[in-house]
Amino acid sequence: MTEAIARVHIDTHRPRTRYSRMLFGQFLEHFHRQVYGGVFEPGSPLADEKGFRLDVVEALRELRVPVVRWPGGCFVSAYHWTHGVGPNRRPSYDKAWRVEDPNTFGTAEFVAWCRLIGAEPYICTNGGTGTSQEMSDWVEYCNLPDAGRWAKVRQAGGHPDPHNVGYWSIGNENYGDWEMGAKGAAEWGRFVAESAKMMKRVDPTIKLFAAALPDLDWTLALLRAAGQHLDCVSIHGYWDGLWQNNQPSDYATCMTRALQPEAAITMTEHVIAAAGYEGRIGIAFDEWNLRGWHHPLTADWPADIAARDKNDLNATYTMADAVFSAGFLNSCLRHASTVRMANMAPVVNTRGPLYVHPRGIVMRATYHVLWMYANLLGEEVCDAYVDCAAHLPGEGTVPVVDAVVTCDVGQGRYHIVLVNRHPDHAAECVVAIDGVTVDGAHAATQLAGDSPDAYNDVDQPNRVFPAAVELNFHDGIVELPAHSVTIVEVLRSSA
Ligand code: AHR
Repeated sequence: MTEAIARVHIDTHRPRTRYSRMLFGQFLEHFHRQVYGGVFEPGSPLADEKGFRLDVVEALRELRVPVVRWPGGCFVSAYHWTHGVGPNRRPSYDKAWRVEDPNTFGTAEFVAWCRLIGAEPYICTNGGTGTSQEMSDWVEYCNLPDAGRWAKVRQAGGHPDPHNVGYWSIGNENYGDWEMGAKGAAEWGRFVAESAKMMKRVDPTIKLFAAALPDLDWTLALLRAAGQHLDCVSIHGYWDGLWQNNQPSDYATCMTRALQPEAAITMTEHVIAAAGYEGRIGIAFDEWNLRGWHHPLTADWPADIAARDKNDLNATYTMADAVFSAGFLNSCLRHASTVRMANMAPVVNTRGPLYVHPRGIVMRATYHVLWMYANLLGEEVCDAYVDCAAHLPGEGTVPVVDAVVTCDVGQGRYHIVLVNRHPDHAAECVVAIDGVTVDGAHAATQLAGDSPDAYNDVDQPNRVFPAAVELNFHDGIVELPAHSVTIVEVLRSSA
C-alpha cells in the first residue's frame, strides 16, 4: 500500500475561528497600467460611460472582492487628494513613479468603481509629505453628510451623499528610505497618533490602520504612541524581489520561501502582544505578492520607465505563483484571529491576478486560486494539524503538503484545502476527522497545470484552469498531483 507522506488531523472538538472575508482583498495603485489602461479606460469599447472596463468589473465580481486599497503604495506618499476631486482636474507630477498623473481617476471615481464591483473602498493616506490636517480633510470629504468645507466640495462635484469610506490607513512604508517622507520610529508614532485623533474626530466609526513592520523597534514604538487609536497594523510582503532586475525565480526557488509569510505574521503577532494589544489590534497584510514589482530606478530615465512593461509578461505568473499564493492564504486563515485583511498587490496588470489588454483580459493562475478560496471555503477555520514527513528539496524545511480546513457553521460539511508544493511528484495524503479517516469519492476542485511553469496568456487563456474532479480516498489515502491546489468537500458523515 502506498505510504502517505502527510496526515491532516481535524479535531472537531477544538474551537473554530470565523475568518474575515477581507482576507481576499485587493490593492490598486497609480502605477503603470493598473488604473489608466487597467480598471479605467475611457473611450474603450469595453468600458462603460464612466470609463470603467466592464470585463474587469465582471471578473472581479466573480472573485467577490470584499475590499480594495488605493491609491498606493509609494505613489501615495506625495499624493494630494484634492488634486483628484471636483470638476476641473489638472495633471500632477507623480514623484514616486516619475510620470504625469492626469488625476481623472480620483476619490469619487475610485469609490464608484468599488461599489460597481461590490467591494468596500479602503483609502491609504499620504503619510510622507501629507499632514494630519490633509488626512482628516479627506475623511471630511468622504464621510461627512454636508457639514464643513470638504463635504460641500464633494456635493458640488455631483456627489450629494457621503462616500462612506470605512477603512483608512495612515501612511505607506514610511519606515523605508525608498519612501518619500520617510520617518524615524518615534517620529512616526507621534505623527500617527495626532493624525488618528483628527481623523477619528471627523468620523469615529472608521477602521484605522497604520504602516508597520514585523519589527520590534518600529512597531512597538508605533503601538506605544498610537495603539489606542488603531484597529490594525499594516504589513507588506513580496518574496521574489524583482524591483531592479526582472529575473523571476523558478518554481523550486519560490517554494523555498513558502514559510516566510507565516513567519512575518507570527513576528507581528508577538510585537502586538509585547505592546499589550493582543486580541485588540489585528494585522492587515495589505500588500502581498510572491513577485516584487519591476520598476528599475536608474539614471537612464525615462528609458527605464519602459522597463515597467516587463511586469506584463504573463509567462512570469506560473503555478509557482498559484501554489505560493495558496500557501499565503492558508497562513492568513491559520491566523484568522489576528489577520483581519489581506490585499493582493495589485488587482490588475503588474503582478496581479488579471492581465488587462485593449481587446480583453487574461485570468492568470493566481486569479483561479483567489476564485477557489473566495467561492469554495466554509465560514469557519477548524483546528487542524498537518503532519508532513517529507520536505522539498533544497533547504529541506518546507513541507511538501500544506493544508487548511474550513467548515460550515453547522460543521456538517468540511471544505479542505490540500496543497502539494512538490514540482514533480504526486503526494499521498490522509485526512482524519476526530481520528476517523476520510474514505470514498468526494467532489473537489483542482488547479494543477500541466507543468510547474504553466501559465495563461492571450493565446492560451485557459492552460491553467480549475477542474471539477472526483477525489478518491482509497484506504483513507488520496493522491495530490504535483504543483497543485485542491479544495475538497467532505460531509462529516463520510468520515
Ligand atoms: O513595488 C511597488 C511598491 O512596493 C509599492 O508602491 C510599495 O507600497 C511597496 O514597497
